[in-house]
Amino acid sequence: MGQDDRNEQAEPRALAPETLTVWAGEVDSLAHGATQVPIVYSAAYAYPDVDAWLDVAMGRTPGHIYSRNTNPTVAAFEEKVRVLEAAEAATSFATGMAAVSDTLFALLAPGERVVSVKDTYGGTNQLFTDFLPRVGVKVELCDTTDHEQIEESIAAGCQLVYIETPTNPTLKVMDIARLAQAGQAAGAVVVADNTFATPINQHPLAVGADLVLHSATKFLGGHADALGGVLCGARDLVAKVYHYREITGASLDPMAAYLLIRSMKTLALRVERQNENALRIARWLESQPAVTKVNYPGLESHPQHDIARRQMSGYGGVLSFELDGGLEAVKAVLPRLRLAHRAANLGAVETVAGPPATTSHVECTPEERAAMGIPESLIRYSVGIEDAADLIADLTQALAAL
Ligand SMILES: Cc1ncc(COP(=O)(O)O)c(C=O)c1O
Repeated sequence: MGQDDRNEQAEPRALAPETLTVWAGEVDSLAHGATQVPIVYSAAYAYPDVDAWLDVAMGRTPGHIYSRNTNPTVAAFEEKVRVLEAAEAATSFATGMAAVSDTLFALLAPGERVVSVKDTYGGTNQLFTDFLPRVGVKVELCDTTDHEQIEESIAAGCQLVYIETPTNPTLKVMDIARLAQAGQAAGAVVVADNTFATPINQHPLAVGADLVLHSATKFLGGHADALGGVLCGARDLVAKVYHYREITGASLDPMAAYLLIRSMKTLALRVERQNENALRIARWLESQPAVTKVNYPGLESHPQHDIARRQMSGYGGVLSFELDGGLEAVKAVLPRLRLAHRAANLGAVETVAGPPATTSHVECTPEERAAMGIPESLIRYSVGIEDAADLIADLTQALAAL
């Protein structure tokens, strides 16, 4: 037996993400000798006597009471993501926006202040510009890449710092460790939306964020057939948001949880392929005369490439690019794509493309999009797991329209 073999036997090594995506959360949830997590469609759970029922209701013994609160299939999904994010706790939601809004509304009170940035996902931006101010929460939205301005705004006093990196749809990158440090110094809870990066490429909790959330609808699900959201982090904070969600009711459906569990088994494989495809296509797009700008954190030309290289192990499956000729050029090119759904989604095994006006920022007016620095000449291109050369050939024939 060699030295390496002895070490492997003496100390159990941490499992790799490729292994955790397959096994985490599964074994304890199996029933009847099944090898797959069952879909438990039961609104409530029955107990033989009041004492046993009370023990579960009071949290003294594990179990389930009512599926708005917890459900075995949903719990298996939460456990899988919790392990991948190396978090103390996780809870889930009916959609990504339920995860975002429940987190913000559970952790902020009237009169309190939240610091975020102008480039968050359109739905999140609406919470900041409309719904939170309505209940007296003070919102400051900084320039996304001006880290000094964000730090100053945080130091002025706030209860919550909300970041999203890379951003949707212009792929700006924020320094999570730096902003988490600023947030902690101010005594604020730091929340990071990790949807674009996935737990395969980026670990906000490991560099100081208190909470990390996902639209599971995107890469975690990866097949564009289930909606969901998930939040991971410190136990006390997750418990607060869980309580808000169990009362307000945006719970994940067991069927969606099952689809998400099944899809997550291939998360590492899919994301690795999408990282490779996206980098290759971004480099190719940079050389095209009809393309005036390519946004992808993996490109050396990306303004925050150094930050991305430090905090990401892969640069993700989403890129965006601007066309010479504005919205008319977008309207000419998009219908010609044969290997892309023109749809308001991303992170799927199929390539998906669309303009911000009908995808990430459909909630905003053209004026609001312009103020956020989102040009009408932009196409968001979420790269699937197809062959990269096929996708480049498809883009070539589509761009020939210009
Ligand atoms: C970064 C990001 N966060 C949150 C959401 C909201 O997720 P959902 O559509 O699942 O509600 C989206 C949706 O596109 C997103 O891109």
